[in-house]
Amino acid sequence: MDDERFISSSMNAADEEIETSLRPKSFDDYIGQEKVKNNLKIFIEACKKRRDALDHVLLYGPPGLGKTTMSHIIANELGVSLKITSGPAIERAGDLAAILTNLEENDVLFVDEIHALNRSVEEKLYSAMEDFAFDIVLGKGPAAKTMRINLNKFTLIGATTRIGMLTGPFRDRFGVICRLEMYSPEELSVIINRSAKILNIEISKEASLELARRSRGTPRIANRLLKRVRDFAEVIGKGVIDVEIVDKALDFLEVDKCGLDLIDRRMLQAMISKFHGGPVGLDTIAAAINEDAVTIEDVIEPYLLQLGYIARTPRGRIVLKNAYDHLGLKYPEQGPKQLSLFDGSENNDD
Ligand SMILES: Nc1ncnc2c1ncn2[C@@H]1O[C@H](COP(=O)(O)OP(=O)(O)OP(=O)(O)O)[C@@H](O)[C@H]1O
Ligand SMILES: [Mg+2]
Repeated sequence: MDDERFISSSMNAADEEIETSLRPKSFDDYIGQEKVKNNLKIFIEACKKRRDALDHVLLYGPPGLGKTTMSHIIANELGVSLKITSGPAIERAGDLAAILTNLEENDVLFVDEIHALNRSVEEKLYSAMEDFAFDIVLGKGPAAKTMRINLNKFTLIGATTRIGMLTGPFRDRFGVICRLEMYSPEELSVIINRSAKILNIEISKEASLELARRSRGTPRIANRLLKRVRDFAEVIGKGVIDVEIVDKALDFLEVDKCGLDLIDRRMLQAMISKFHGGPVGLDTIAAAINEDAVTIEDVIEPYLLQLGYIARTPRGRIVLKNAYDHLGLKYPEQGPKQLSLFDGSENNDD
């Protein structure tokens, strides 16, 4: 379902080619995330002086905010090579051994979707991260022997949209943990202007800000919308993107003034009409709108939380007044229905 979704922040095939051309290569081109950037810059500088490997880094946050981009930049700035793999790709401890033994001194190993590593691989990775060594068990039973392979010092950069799925001990092995935040419209508008320049698109200042406001705080979506809006500008305008074109294009794509699309609105409406605004459990919402719970949690919800349209409570999600206002609905005087003993999943009367 998510693949068909225009506003989806996950990557699709068409993104891949533009992402390579638009992906910033240095900290100077990487807009926003100032805190993360400043911290990393200092650590990188210090490592270069000591000629040491950078501490392991964990980057987390919703899709499309710049985790992969950041890891490329870190390797670039360190002047080392970057090896890329992902959690699901490392199936067995042997796969991991092959990857680790091929790393040169101080190299960066980027593991995308690091929450998806299986447990036995994860445990092997612990000792590699800590001692830069890999233990192989030879033989079976009482005669089994362990052989230790020493590795070059390396930096692991893990990226994940789901930090909650990492075990405590694993998280603790990362010296630097950075959360990427959603971007402000102003930051996104700088990103849009930069992309427009690279893609040779003319866009007015107001238009890029309007586009930015409707891009869900996500650079990947901003870049994708920019390309779609350009098509509109070429067909119905003079090739230059102004506010009117942005409006027309995004109305056509059913992306509203706040960047919500049909699925976001359907979710809010279902929570309001079927569950009195909550609290309602994630799985219940998922069933009600026929979406995957993981997609809701990773892709739909972060932006609604950011806008202050919904909130998470121990008993489930609730819809906040801002969302009623946005949808033109009346906010119930008593606020979201307070449920007593049961969580929202019990409460599905239409
Ligand atoms: N800070 C930024 N400044 C400018 N462009 C950015 C920035 N962050 C991301 N982008 C743009 O957004 C695109 C998507 O970013 P990236 O692939 O790094 O996201 P991600 O967090 O790795 O997403 P996923 O979780 O899906 O892997 C990049 O190709 C780049 O063009
Ligand atoms: Mg990525």
